[in-house]
Amino acid sequence: MPISLSIVSFSKPFMASRTLLVFLLFLSLSHQVASNSNHLVFEGFDENSELNLEGSSIIKTSRLLKLTNRSTSIIGHAFYAKPFLMVNKTDPPLQPYALSFSTSFVFSIVSPNSGSGGFGLAFTIAPSTQFPGAAAGHYLGLFNYTSDGHDSNHIFAVEFDTVNGYKGDSDSEGNHVGVNINGMDSKFTEPAAYIKEGTDNVKEDFRMARVEAVQAWIEYDGEKRTLNVTIAPLSVPRPSKPLIQDNIDLYDVMKDSMYVGFSASTGDQETSSHYLLGWSFAVNGVAPPLNISKLPKPPPKENEPSSFPWVNVAIGILSAMTFSLLCILILLTCYKRNKDFEVLEDWEMDCPHRFRYRDLQLATKGFVESQLIGVGGFGAVYKGVLPSTGSEVAVKRIVRSPFHGMREFAAEIESLGRLRHKNLVNLQGWCKKKNDLLLVYDFIPNGSLDFVLYNPNNSFVLNWGQRFDILKGISAGLLYLHEEWEQVVIHRDVKTSNILIDGNMNARLGDFGLARLYNHGQVSHTTSVVGTIGYIAPELTRTGKASKSTDMYAFGIVLLEVVTGKRPLDSDQFFLEEWVIENYHLGQILEVVDPNLDSVYDEEEVELVLKLGILCTQHRADYRPTMKQVTRYLNFDDPLPDIADWGDSAHGSSRMSSGFLAVTSSSRTVETSGYLSSVSMTTNSIDAGR
Ligand SMILES: *[C@@H]1O[C@H](CO)[C@@H](O)[C@H](O)[C@H]1NC(C)=O
Ligand SMILES: *[C@@H]1O[C@H](CO)[C@@H](O)[C@H](O)[C@H]1NC(C)=O
Ligand SMILES: *[C@@H]1O[C@H](CO)[C@@H](O)[C@H](O)[C@H]1NC(C)=O
Ligand SMILES: *[C@@H]1O[C@H](CO)[C@@H](O)[C@H](O)[C@H]1NC(C)=O
Ligand SMILES: *[C@@H]1O[C@H](CO)[C@@H](O)[C@H](O)[C@H]1NC(C)=O
Repeated sequence: MPISLSIVSFSKPFMASRTLLVFLLFLSLSHQVASNSNHLVFEGFDENSELNLEGSSIIKTSRLLKLTNRSTSIIGHAFYAKPFLMVNKTDPPLQPYALSFSTSFVFSIVSPNSGSGGFGLAFTIAPSTQFPGAAAGHYLGLFNYTSDGHDSNHIFAVEFDTVNGYKGDSDSEGNHVGVNINGMDSKFTEPAAYIKEGTDNVKEDFRMARVEAVQAWIEYDGEKRTLNVTIAPLSVPRPSKPLIQDNIDLYDVMKDSMYVGFSASTGDQETSSHYLLGWSFAVNGVAPPLNISKLPKPPPKENEPSSFPWVNVAIGILSAMTFSLLCILILLTCYKRNKDFEVLEDWEMDCPHRFRYRDLQLATKGFVESQLIGVGGFGAVYKGVLPSTGSEVAVKRIVRSPFHGMREFAAEIESLGRLRHKNLVNLQGWCKKKNDLLLVYDFIPNGSLDFVLYNPNNSFVLNWGQRFDILKGISAGLLYLHEEWEQVVIHRDVKTSNILIDGNMNARLGDFGLARLYNHGQVSHTTSVVGTIGYIAPELTRTGKASKSTDMYAFGIVLLEVVTGKRPLDSDQFFLEEWVIENYHLGQILEVVDPNLDSVYDEEEVELVLKLGILCTQHRADYRPTMKQVTRYLNFDDPLPDIADWGDSAHGSSRMSSGFLAVTSSSRTVETSGYLSSVSMTTNSIDAGR
């Protein structure tokens, strides 16, 4: 900018003022000049700037005032150290009024390229430089939930916000300018734009976080009670028409003596850095225009290399470097593709149960459809043969796994990998690749108990002896999880489709602890209740807290299913446990036995299992037996207590956990958390995918 020109344009409004001419001379000698009582000018900032800095605000050696960095939920304040007189208390009969003021400043918002930048800064006039208890995010470090909107705040702010959504849609435009009085509910708001020169009202939109820097002008006329707000990218000359031009009386908001400055904040997820390059302010006059060439360089944007005097050379070198980098990247990608290149972090080396992705890919023939043996629980299951050992495995593939914190997750899975019991489907190991998580289990040939019990095309019917052994096996597996291992493991999804039958007709419990992994992974802001309708204990629907007792409830349902050959909910009217209890009360408990058994069974054992089923499905969790007791009953080590002595003696009337159960008749895995849809529905033997 030529000197003479800018001086002319600068001094025009001030020709009359001598002090200003002096001021002007002074200005040309120094980068930064503090005010007399009427105005201030900062063209860049340094340690001599008379500012009160609070929170995250700092002055950089580059003469930038940095209000916030990209940390989450932080607040930065920068206020001129001395207050200004803002009210003219004229003698009666004249009414007192808020004095005119004017300000001009240049700011820069640096957001991540991904676009998740957020929250903003506000030019603020306030009775104090302290904002105790003020909140970050939408409140921009000025208000909090309780103080928001109160007249007692006496805060005037013009916000430059990059996130939408304060209280729904009053600021519905993310990238916007708003005029706020005593709260964040803007009186006037406009998407960030400037009026094109020579047009009446043609707005040129721009993104405040995307331009190098933004200049803003705010002018209030105390006599006419009008407010103008104008903004433009720094590269654009001042537009002659303001973006916001409104009638507003600031008398009520102003106290006699007020501080002026800036407040900025970041959100709890979206964050941007907020910088100020220069600022001028005046009461009862026009704020001195800023000499742009004297301002510090705007901070580099994340997507741009910072520019140097030898820009062209730099650009040349940089593009050459970028080109070579691109080539290297492409080569690397190809290499990765071909070699299945896996980047192992140090801690991953210490995990004995970690498989190589490449081996699992080979084992399952690249996860082809023909190797698919089920879709359920938490993902698709493929059969595979490990190339190294030739042993058969089942590989569960959880795509886009919601697990966060791979390290904690790995620790958890490493610990589950140490669980070993003949009635568990052993977890051999795991592998992760990007968002895919692979869990490797023993392969169990005969399929699930659910399949064996209910498949109508199944010519093979389990006899009573086999059924009783299966139940004893499951109880042994659960006892191991609940009591015998070094930590208590709650299964959380005991059901017939999670019980697999091996070649020796042994029952093996699968998918244990997975739900715990989900919780462990801390899916953000949700508490996940995992379970399957028909197997969910009533208290679980209320508290969402899985426990040994909720496992016992589900086990009780399995006991009843195995004897009766009926699903827990067969239609909207049929609830297995109620039906069994009804028959029990009618003195005809053996009526419920699976007709497929052709009346060939041990009556004592059948009766024991049915009563035990009723005992385990009692609605009061504390009345249910422990797994240890159940094991003793099943082995006839202890006699079953008389049903009349039970806590809620065969459940009496309070049967309606079913209000919930009645919602759906198919057995279905449900979760209360957001990823419900990724979890399965069970039909027959195999969980159908989403
Ligand atoms: C703006 O700053 C430049 C460089 O310091 C200077 O040459 C010029 O005179 C200034 N313009 C005004 C109007 O002060
Ligand atoms: C960001 O500012 C906060 C608050 O002053 C500070 O604690 C934190 O260390 C800063 N972070 C970085 C990366 O500078
Ligand atoms: C206050 O108002 C009176 C009467 O209009 C005027 O003479 C005086 O200059 C004003 N004072 C200030 C500080 O603006
Ligand atoms: C909200 O702000 C008010 C006024 O600034 C303050 O007194 C109060 O303690 C704050 N409330 C909370 C919960 O921080
Ligand atoms: C606001 O802008 C309008 C239109 O450009 C102008 O006439 C008016 O004087 C301005 N008001 C203030 C307080 O600067």
